[in-house]
Amino acid sequence: MTLLEQLHKKIETRQARISVIGLGYVGLPVALSFARAGFRVTGIDSSPAKIERLKCGETGITDVSSDDLQATEGRFHPTLDYAEIRDQDVVIICVPTPLSKTKDPDLSYILDAVEGLSGYLRPGGLVVLESTTYPGTTDEVVLPVLSRSGMKAGVDFGLAYSPERIDPGNKQYSFSTIPKVVGGITPDCRALAASLYGQIVERVVPVSSTRTAEMVKLLENTFRSVNIGLVNEIALICDRLGIDVWETIEAAATKPFGFTPFYPGPGLGGHCIPIDPHYLSWKLKALNYSARFIALASEVNASMPHYVVEKVVGTLNDMEKSVKGSRVLLMGVAYKADVNDERESPAIEVFEILTAKGARVSYHDPHIPKLRLNEGGVRSVNLTTQTLKRADCVVILTAHRVFDAAFIVRHARAVVDTRNVTRGMAAEHICRL
Ligand SMILES: NC(=O)c1ccc[n+]([C@@H]2O[C@H](COP(=O)([O-])OP(=O)(O)OC[C@H]3O[C@@H](n4cnc5c(N)ncnc54)[C@H](O)[C@@H]3O)[C@@H](O)[C@H]2O)c1
Repeated sequence: MTLLEQLHKKIETRQARISVIGLGYVGLPVALSFARAGFRVTGIDSSPAKIERLKCGETGITDVSSDDLQATEGRFHPTLDYAEIRDQDVVIICVPTPLSKTKDPDLSYILDAVEGLSGYLRPGGLVVLESTTYPGTTDEVVLPVLSRSGMKAGVDFGLAYSPERIDPGNKQYSFSTIPKVVGGITPDCRALAASLYGQIVERVVPVSSTRTAEMVKLLENTFRSVNIGLVNEIALICDRLGIDVWETIEAAATKPFGFTPFYPGPGLGGHCIPIDPHYLSWKLKALNYSARFIALASEVNASMPHYVVEKVVGTLNDMEKSVKGSRVLLMGVAYKADVNDERESPAIEVFEILTAKGARVSYHDPHIPKLRLNEGGVRSVNLTTQTLKRADCVVILTAHRVFDAAFIVRHARAVVDTRNVTRGMAAEHICRL
């Protein structure tokens, strides 16, 4: 039996020992899914605070509860120490892939993880990259580092890419019910990765290469970014034409084929949609090709926080107030509903533009007790009738389920609603996007 056939057998019998590097929104659910399925899992993270929290039974992630940790029955072991990879069979990399200040891919986290594990990878092991990245990362960046040991991919060790499609806050689709795409450096590597994920997800979708698997993820997120850009532009157009964009989308969505509804909002947020398409355009720049849809969608989406501020200024103007000195309360600063993640949230920009214009801005978000701004941080205020009444304008930026739109409308002097949570309410003091 070859080394990779031996690993295959260990995976199928759930004897394989698995390490997951990076225990965030992606890595922790992956690690716990394997542990719940009976695998012994070592979780490696570079943050001592995160490892301490996990050891105390706290996850820090809304979708992953302490009960999920308990359900692993001691098979999940969090650590800071890469040396523990020494006796592992599978290593899955789930570290961040942000943009640099110049909006270029920042692969430093992937490189740190690959360098960190390379000295401990043993013959017969499998490495899977899950971080979102541009096509070519696995074979052009990861493979050369792992090959320095003299071992050969597809013979001595396996290497694969499998994009993560988890959708934080989504109650309908969970890790196990979302099909998992896998591509390998060789067909044997792909078969190993397919057998690995086949243990914990209902459906695995093998593709012909790691580059295709990397491209699948970027297609999915570029599709979202472009469609959100389109519908945001439709919102701007409807505004000029005096047409209700929400009513328009709702009616268009009754077409049973050929139309998928997307909804406007205050701008893009999160660790994926505003960032991932830039990985693709960066890669294409090197090939002298300009990814035009990506650039245009990004331009429209990036203008939305300014549009929201325009609406606030207009609303205050109708009340014969200037934005300078007015009290503005932002409802929700997480980038989307029901998550405790404010990364790239458009609320941050809305907050900062309004503050720069002299408004006295505060926010309420039950999921984000403290918001980091460019200059310092602010704390969420309590939501009471008094807080609402005191504000000159209340801006609904995130549609958290706990927000009671009727309560907000009843007590606020003016409401700018960027999420259509006040749908059907006919009050004069509501301004919808
Ligand atoms: N968050 C999502 O909804 C989502 C969905 C699909 C794909 N992704 C992709 O998955 C990847 C991870 O995203 P995330 O949201 O889980 O990020 P995250 O910031 O929540 O978690 C990343 C973790 O990696 C740790 N880390 C960083 N460098 C490390 C290193 N060298 N060694 C060990 N640990 C390290 C950090 O401390 C952190 O805990 C990114 O590429 C992202 O684009 C994210």
